[in-house]
Amino acid sequence: MIFVITVVGLGFVGLTTALGFSEKGYKVYGYDINKEKTRLIKDGKVPFYEENLEEVLNRNLNKNFLVSNNLEEAVQNSKYIFYCVGTPSDEEGNADLTYILNAVQDTLKIIKKVDSKIFIVKSTVPPSTTSAKIAPFIEKCGFEVGKNIGLANNPEFLREGCAWWDFINPDRIVIGQFDDETGKEVEKLYKIFNCPIFRVSLNTAEYIKYLSNTLLASMISFSNELSMIAYEIGDIDIKNAFEILHLDRRWSGSPANISTYVFPGCGFGGYCLPKDTKALYSLSEKLGFKAELLKSVIYVNKIIKKHIVDRVISEIKEDEYIGVLGLSFKSNSDDIRESPAKDIIEEMIKRGHNKIIAYDPIANENFKIAFKLPIEYAENIEDIVNKADKFVILTKWDEFKNDNKLNNKKIFDFRYIL
Ligand SMILES: NC(=O)c1ccc[n+]([C@@H]2O[C@H](COP(=O)([O-])OP(=O)(O)OC[C@H]3O[C@@H](n4cnc5c(N)ncnc54)[C@H](O)[C@@H]3O)[C@@H](O)[C@H]2O)c1
Repeated sequence: MIFVITVVGLGFVGLTTALGFSEKGYKVYGYDINKEKTRLIKDGKVPFYEENLEEVLNRNLNKNFLVSNNLEEAVQNSKYIFYCVGTPSDEEGNADLTYILNAVQDTLKIIKKVDSKIFIVKSTVPPSTTSAKIAPFIEKCGFEVGKNIGLANNPEFLREGCAWWDFINPDRIVIGQFDDETGKEVEKLYKIFNCPIFRVSLNTAEYIKYLSNTLLASMISFSNELSMIAYEIGDIDIKNAFEILHLDRRWSGSPANISTYVFPGCGFGGYCLPKDTKALYSLSEKLGFKAELLKSVIYVNKIIKKHIVDRVISEIKEDEYIGVLGLSFKSNSDDIRESPAKDIIEEMIKRGHNKIIAYDPIANENFKIAFKLPIEYAENIEDIVNKADKFVILTKWDEFKNDNKLNNKKIFDFRYIL
């Protein structure tokens, strides 16, 4: 089956996407509002530098890839319309949606209600944009999303500099779908790429893209903040220090790699991360440098526990027993130092919830002795299942993940293991 696609916007993402699909044998129309850019591409020239792209352009131009000055012709012949236009910041820092809405409007002016097209937003838009802004916009123009217009988003993760390689060798494809049928149609396009495909809600897909970009931004700011602290302290070989950090097997090796740190939970605990983060923050402050990122890291580590207590308390009745599953700061350890469980249990007690029973496969004794909290302890999972009404998972023990005794009970899974 030959898929026919229009790509609207032929910048880094649009041109790469258009050529990627052409290379896979699909028929692709490319359209850009910028006439000069269009002229260059028609002449076989890529208007920006991106390795390999010009060669691929010339291989596909006027064969599978047609550059059109005429959006009408392109859209009428295509089933799938990809939007790859810019989404820059407006003056207040919000994403400016003018380009995407204009592009959608230009397309809607062309198509007839019986056409049944699929619109796919590849531009990066903040979570909820497709569902709360683009879908209503399409409906306002007289079309019915899910009926005559299928709507999806499909965030792009390519890196400039190796855009072609990234597009052709994706590590994951994320499809945000308005409805299942549209999601399946979009998935068909990507079956030919040998990688995992995830069909999720529109908001989830957009969120995944921001999760990725804000994490990268945080890691860069973290590294820069740490370099400024190092500069204030003096006599630190910053380059060498970072290169040695990268040798840590957690970056790539097993059993646990860096991905275990990039995962939500109850906050970091244990002996090292809390004290070391605080210590570096205060040393830096003494030296006159305000480490804003570290300050926020410490702050977030505090409020995540409050957030957990708020959620549990809002759903637990006064006479109900809370079963705390996990007391150590991490699984496969009996270390309870700075364990999030301590702060969380203390806060629940402070808010008047004294009916708490806790169980940890190996950390009960340490916890009991260290914190002397007025709670009960269960000897084993059966005891806690029998006594508690609702459960809160605070440590990622496999035992909790696999235990079917917990079936049918309300569980607050703050380690996201179930
Ligand atoms: N550059 C990246 O590395 C990258 C990676 C992933 C995602 N993204 C996202 O993809 C989107 C596009 O980024 P880019 O870097 O390709 O931008 P870009 O500025 O290089 O390209 C956007 C193109 O859209 C065209 N355009 C604007 N309005 C149009 C319209 N109504 N009709 C037709 N064409 C129109 C512009 O002329 C321009 O050529 C953005 O939302 C960006 O955040 C970019």
